[in-house]
Amino acid sequence: MDLRSTTQSILEIEADAVVVGIVEGQPLTGAAAALDDAIGGAISSLIESDEIRGNACELTAILAPQGIAAKQVLVVGFGKPESINASSAFKAGSAAAKRLATRTRNNLVFALSDVLGDELIEAAVCGSLVGSSSQSLYQSDPKMSEPKAVTWTNVGDDVLSAARAISDGVLITRRLVNEPPNMIYPVSFAEAAEEAVKNRDIEIEIWDKEKLQSESCGSLLGVAQGSVKEPRLVILKYNGGEPTQKPIALVGKGVTFDSGGLSLKPSEGMKTMKCDMAGAATALGAIQAIADLKLPINVIALCGLVENMPSASAFRLGDVLTAKNGKTIEVLNTDAEGRLVLADTLCVANEMGAERIIDLATLTGACVVALGLDVVGLMTNDQKWCDEVLSAAATSGELAWQLPMFSEFNDKIKSGVADIRNIGEGRWGGAITAAKFLEEFVGDTPWVHIDIAGPSFLDSPKAWCDGGGTGTMVRTLVEVARQSAAN
Ligand code: BES
Ligand code: MN
Ligand code: ZN
Repeated sequence: MDLRSTTQSILEIEADAVVVGIVEGQPLTGAAAALDDAIGGAISSLIESDEIRGNACELTAILAPQGIAAKQVLVVGFGKPESINASSAFKAGSAAAKRLATRTRNNLVFALSDVLGDELIEAAVCGSLVGSSSQSLYQSDPKMSEPKAVTWTNVGDDVLSAARAISDGVLITRRLVNEPPNMIYPVSFAEAAEEAVKNRDIEIEIWDKEKLQSESCGSLLGVAQGSVKEPRLVILKYNGGEPTQKPIALVGKGVTFDSGGLSLKPSEGMKTMKCDMAGAATALGAIQAIADLKLPINVIALCGLVENMPSASAFRLGDVLTAKNGKTIEVLNTDAEGRLVLADTLCVANEMGAERIIDLATLTGACVVALGLDVVGLMTNDQKWCDEVLSAAATSGELAWQLPMFSEFNDKIKSGVADIRNIGEGRWGGAITAAKFLEEFVGDTPWVHIDIAGPSFLDSPKAWCDGGGTGTMVRTLVEVARQSAAN
């Protein structure tokens, strides 16, 4: 898909569609007003008759308009003025692109800069580049198709190229999540990572099973042992900062399919468990975007990749695993596997000298119970670092909420046999007991755990995103890197 900017008048551009914006309860401005005039007041009369309200992601197509060169005007709503932020901008851009992806189109023109202003325009451009992506990767007649080109009016080339870098990160995350589990498994994920770093300023190191054994990653290997698919640990390094600066580590849970293992999930809970590598895909998408943006900062991304399967060789309830830092873990539920994979992966991040760590994981259903499908849960051992991540999330508009890490929860993961157990005692506060488990493997390094189990995957499509992977948190991680680079 080409991405261009133009200063040509939107009345004269020969496009398949021109997208203009409207804010709820506000008069038309800028491009929307000019276009409305040129086509004989169609938009304003639709507003007058209450046909167009400007609600968030509301879409109204005016086909074959007279008086302009474009074949269609698409009016997208941004909601009330006070609710306009990077998220509504991203979603409006996405929703328009998604609607227009229902036919094969050559050129879409977006004229939204008067509504959004400089700060939010990047998010909208980003949305316009990802909105046409779909989960129909294996349909002979895909239900959505990308336009050949997207053209933005009155947007600088630097903004466009930044938006392209970020949207490419979101897109690779979404695609890897949407790939079925027979296509994406640890080895093929690692190959996809190798492909992604080609022609990029990112180094890659891949640990195979033998290397993981020699590095004493017994916790990750315990999960992997039930599957015929071999595990991998993918380590990506981007050095955009000073050579002496210690890196920020992005650590991702990459369970390419989570059957639950011997603690087998019921079908209903298993059917979307290809999404269980979303954390690893997010770490990859984010470091790719950070490298493409050439941010002056050092970042490493670590993807712990396994498939969790029941079999004669699977790890059992009661097994004791030894993680890389020597801690022993009593396995009491093989479906609490993500934390076992992250345990060793976090140790590796720490040993590599990470200054600060963020991990991303589709870790617990309990987090979804607590916060719903739209909000990620944050847990930390360092409030200052967590505040930085929360502030980055506020900038990107992605919804994040901190859960407490009171020491009362520590007792819940004590084991009578080993140092710790892999599930909490009792069912309550499951998102937090999982985080308490992870905390055992980060040492004194400032660390934020992001549970993305809710927002990383849509069971059904929304106006702004097809069903499947969403790429949540890629934009926030880019903001974290930008803010860290600025300090
Ligand atoms: N991958 C799941 C968590 C999950 C649930 C992700 C729903 C996305 C949507 C994780 O491995 C899991 O199975 N967690 C268990 C933990 C329990 C056994 C302590 C859960 O949440 O039920
Ligand atoms: Mn599980
Ligand atoms: Zn899982």
